[in-house]
Amino acid sequence: MEKDYGKYFAPSLKEARKRIKTEIEKIRFTFPEHLHQFGKGKKYLIKTYGCQGNEADSEKMAGILQKLGFTETDKEEEADLILLNTCAIRENAENRVFGELGRLKNLKTHNPDLLLGVCGCMPQEERVFNLIKEKYPYIDLVFGTHNIHKLGEYLYDAYLNKEKVAEVFSEEGKIVEGIPTKRAHDRKAWVNIMYGCDEFCTYCIVPYTRGRERSRNPEDILNEVRELAEQGYQEVTLLGQNVNAYGKDLERDYSFADLLNDLRGIPIPRVRFTTSHPHDLDDATIYALGRGGNLMPHLHLPVQSGSDRILKKMNRKYTAAEYLEKIRKLREHVPGISITTDIIVGFPGETEEDFQATLDLLRKAEFEGAFTFIFSPREGTPAAKYQDDLDPAVKKERLLTLNELVNEGYLRGNKRFEGKIVKVLVDGPSDKDPGLLTGYTEHNKLVNFPGSKDLIGKIVDVKIEKAYTWHLRGIVGGTHS
Ligand code: 5AD
Ligand code: SF4
Repeated sequence: MEKDYGKYFAPSLKEARKRIKTEIEKIRFTFPEHLHQFGKGKKYLIKTYGCQGNEADSEKMAGILQKLGFTETDKEEEADLILLNTCAIRENAENRVFGELGRLKNLKTHNPDLLLGVCGCMPQEERVFNLIKEKYPYIDLVFGTHNIHKLGEYLYDAYLNKEKVAEVFSEEGKIVEGIPTKRAHDRKAWVNIMYGCDEFCTYCIVPYTRGRERSRNPEDILNEVRELAEQGYQEVTLLGQNVNAYGKDLERDYSFADLLNDLRGIPIPRVRFTTSHPHDLDDATIYALGRGGNLMPHLHLPVQSGSDRILKKMNRKYTAAEYLEKIRKLREHVPGISITTDIIVGFPGETEEDFQATLDLLRKAEFEGAFTFIFSPREGTPAAKYQDDLDPAVKKERLLTLNELVNEGYLRGNKRFEGKIVKVLVDGPSDKDPGLLTGYTEHNKLVNFPGSKDLIGKIVDVKIEKAYTWHLRGIVGGTHS
């Protein structure tokens, strides 16, 4: 029998587009007594799609579930609850999730008590929310990016009241501190420093799915990192859609550079961050990185295109020359820094000349890696309405040409470490060859090397013997020259 909705609140694109500069509400997570241990004996499985922001959110959902008494499983057949934490950035990310939803329906015929939930960025879209409601009526739980702290309540309704829950808010979002977190890794941690995005690049769905830009208080971030350091964590990655805008919404004068400078004083060996926006990357941040210490010499700085005409249509607020000047300055103040980027090809109206300008920028910028994408129209964004008459085969061709150049950059970036001794934070056995250990250098290069499992979780010196396109090969030890 079809269940009725208990809680029901639908998203609205119109609301999601709004930016009203009211004060951001900051609240502390509380755990209602009646929810205590009601998940005892039940098992959960969370499938995470998309960016590190989603990975961090999944860790919070896992934290809440553990508090409720649930235990984790990696087997679909034994799960009582399966949550898909979804990504809306491109159409293929969404198609994968719809495929999964179709497949998981079968699981429900074998186990009618199984609860299926969809959360994250996809339900934030009006179109997807309605599609789930109409075409996937067997989904028990639908919620968005602004209300993961209410997961306990939703499950209570779903299990005890046997109701369906679909609650997605498009309001600008608050900041909820103190959500329990079950971290996936015991040496590397994600630390959200801000949520949302106000940039409104014309191709991007994120400002609509993640809401208004809002920063956590510096004390909350610094305390979290201090605690992680005390627990033996070796690395934190600060997360935000545009970390360089950190602090703009705070009532005091405190910027991303101030945060980096304060973090340098905390005894955590490695601090990374993602993602940066070139327009907001200021000199103070470049100087902060230049002071080194635990701030790692790697920057992911998405350029998106090398054509000023396309950059303008994308609403990126910089020219190719301004971008190149920022990275010149970075290299001047942070010698040896490794710079990676994101690039979109086939943006509506991209001509051969525009594409050549992207290749030209790539040659000048000397990136050591890049994520490359074909433009994917996202409903509700301005670019989805731009005229796009470029042949898909040409877009694919451009992507292949671009990737060849990108791969040269990966190899060049790795080659510069041949014969050098680098510091590697050891993650564990390599997936491809369990006889080898694997980890990342300060410059964020992947290294494989033989070694004892005792090294896992530690930072060790590795001498690089050979560079390949996708990794470095080395041996433990050696002395610094
Ligand atoms: N189509 C293709 N790529 C996109 N990105 C964001 N939106 C789109 C889109 N509609 C890419 C950008 C961004 C990265 C996270 O995803 O390059 O930096
Ligand atoms: Fe999307 Fe642009 Fe915001 Fe990045 S900065 S999340 S690309 S709108």
